[in-house]
Amino acid sequence: MERDEFLSKLGIGALAACMGCSLIACSKSGDANPSGGNNTTTPPVGTTFSIDLNSTLTSVGDSKVSNGIILVRIAAGNAASSFTAVQVACTHEGTAINYNNNQGLFICPLHGSEFSKSGALIQGPATTSLKQYTVAVTGSTLTVTV
Ligand code: FES
Repeated sequence: MERDEFLSKLGIGALAACMGCSLIACSKSGDANPSGGNNTTTPPVGTTFSIDLNSTLTSVGDSKVSNGIILVRIAAGNAASSFTAVQVACTHEGTAINYNNNQGLFICPLHGSEFSKSGALIQGPATTSLKQYTVAVTGSTLTVTV
């Protein structure tokens, strides 16, 4: 009797294969996002990307997440000082932060850390500030350099 035939008769061949798959799947999903945060991958240094201000970030308080960065319009007009760009991943456990326009702060929804418009730490449990990125505006095109 061949090995496969023997295992088939015992009914454990498929069971063993299934158990192996499920154990691998559990391990990967458990390690991929232990804090329950969002995908907040930061782009490599030297990356540049642009957005059209005619259709994006048109109102004060509008925000957009791109390439691991959250861009926010903090004032009217298309000057570079009308915008801020910081890393979207909270420095505590990596959850994507949000901008609260009423408070003028970035706030982490997971444990409540707060950061200023420039990313400076205001309240923990995070212990370090967010990285701020350089914003330039030419006409109606905003460019962020990482
Ligand atoms: S992950 Fe942001 S405060 Fe904990």
